[in-house]
Amino acid sequence: MRYQLTPIFTRPWLLNGLSLRLIESHYENHYGGALRRLNAITEQLESLDVAKAPAYVVNSLKREQLIALNSTLLHELYFASLAFGDGKPTDGLAGALSRDFGSVDRWRSEFVAMASGLAGGSGWVLLVYVPRDRRLINQSAGDHGQTVAGGVPILALDMYEHAYHIDFGANAKAYIETFQRNIDWPSVEVRYEDALQVAPPRPLVQKEFGDLPGVGVEEVKAMLDAGKPVQIIDARPRSYISRQQDIMDGAVWRDPEHVQEWVGELSKSDPVIVFCAYGFHVGCKTAIALREAGFDAKYMKGGHSAWKAIGGPIKLHS
Ligand SMILES: [Fe+2]
Repeated sequence: MRYQLTPIFTRPWLLNGLSLRLIESHYENHYGGALRRLNAITEQLESLDVAKAPAYVVNSLKREQLIALNSTLLHELYFASLAFGDGKPTDGLAGALSRDFGSVDRWRSEFVAMASGLAGGSGWVLLVYVPRDRRLINQSAGDHGQTVAGGVPILALDMYEHAYHIDFGANAKAYIETFQRNIDWPSVEVRYEDALQVAPPRPLVQKEFGDLPGVGVEEVKAMLDAGKPVQIIDARPRSYISRQQDIMDGAVWRDPEHVQEWVGELSKSDPVIVFCAYGFHVGCKTAIALREAGFDAKYMKGGHSAWKAIGGPIKLHS
């Protein structure tokens, strides 16, 4: 399977005290890097003959895959956790935090203390809903790989020595085989059915232009790699492009404020793909204008930052 990039959910230019430089670097290099690593590891695992490969090779790839998967999940959640506002929980959340932590202040103190405890090191602090207990908890994770965010476990094998030493001594292999023979699959299936009832997190789709046909960065890259005829327009605002030196390889920059001046250059027989910085309004509005003018135009989801996050080729803007 190939994991797809999620366009940045927050509007980075609205954030208070977090610079565009910081957010872009974090999104493009760290989130994008984790996603690229995840796909590379997954591809390697899929091409591996796992029955014949040494267990340590499979094990280390699976460990790296878990770290990369959780890093992408948690980064998506992080960028979806930020917005310009007053920092106060909504009434609904204030009620839930008070119920489960005593008060909003109590929750905040704990969350902040946990984050402070990680300062100078690394890790995540997460507010987590546990469906079984129907309550919220704060959880810290010393690295990306300590939990699969949002996962509901349905089968567990304890590999601490205490779980097998009395019967098997150091023979973990025999313990693992015995465990396999003893799995209660009907009850796993019941748990699987229950897990299917847990609604997935709502998709991180940038909302305003939901009806407008968009195309993912991976698809655009595949079109370019296959040599398909496509006209790619970088429609980031002039103010933006003047302080950024890079542009997607294969794209031309056109001023979104003056569509009428350059629309005549485009061919109606080939598709047009247009994008802005992050996939919010400018690129979408330009796509709408081009569609109204009769072009087969789509906007590229996630914009320039998404292209960089998948490691798409970039050139210097002249
Ligand atoms: Fe990060």
